[in-house]
Amino acid sequence: MPARIDTSRLIAAGIAASIEHFDELPSTQDWARQRAADAECPLPLLVIADRQSAGRGRQGNSWWTGEGSLAFSLLFDPGATNGSRRIEPRLALAVGVAIVDSVAPRIPSQPVGLHWPNDIYAGAGKLAGILVEVLPDGRHILGVGLNSNSLTADAPAELRGQIATLRDLTGRPHDHTQLLIDVLKGIAIRLRQLVAEDSAILDAFDAMCRQHGQTLTLYVGDRAVTGRCAGIGPDGALLLDTPNGRERFLAGTLRPPSRQAKSATEPR
Ligand code: BTN
Repeated sequence: MPARIDTSRLIAAGIAASIEHFDELPSTQDWARQRAADAECPLPLLVIADRQSAGRGRQGNSWWTGEGSLAFSLLFDPGATNGSRRIEPRLALAVGVAIVDSVAPRIPSQPVGLHWPNDIYAGAGKLAGILVEVLPDGRHILGVGLNSNSLTADAPAELRGQIATLRDLTGRPHDHTQLLIDVLKGIAIRLRQLVAEDSAILDAFDAMCRQHGQTLTLYVGDRAVTGRCAGIGPDGALLLDTPNGRERFLAGTLRPPSRQAKSATEPR
């Protein structure tokens, strides 16, 4: 089973205009940001690192890139494909749907789905995280960390009970290159659906949400809102049934009781 990324297969699959593959980087996200300064760089640019020494998660958290993890960033111009620069905040959810599409068939024994706003869970643990950053000129850097061929046993102790890896859940390593091709092709398809406001993607947010019925506490600025999760709306909003009725949120930070949703990216 080829554990290492085979760049020639990626090129043959036509999934990006330029591909840069490193044994190690501090962060693919930061490398893509530096490359964005080169106006000649053909987009989309795919940056992959077999190891990251300073992977970044959302909200300033660090991201553990275990040996065998998949870590990549895609620098692209949404305006180049859809004429609009305003596809946030559903972008991360659409990417999450694409990851679920690709990963779920590989783990038939476990439920795989989304945790709003942009985590992928398999079984009881966080399998993947998504980081979307928008440059001042509107280009996007989409970062994905997927615990693919890594082992939970290798993770820092504080993460072990919070994360899941594809390899642990299936008992075998997976073809990294094919997994990456599947995820990137899936992302392209799901983003096209998003731009078209296709119900296939808008309905998938809710259908893949694994927080239905859970009591969640969301922090929005200074406000803490606790409610029962009623899923994810077609606009990407988290729906909470609160004592005030159903409320919808396009942003915010979830805290315990759904602590798992965040702790896989907490500082080491
Ligand atoms: C999160 O769940 O907090 C998002 C994690 C995103 C991690 C990926 S790994 C590839 C890319 N490079 C980074 O430094 N971060 C993203």
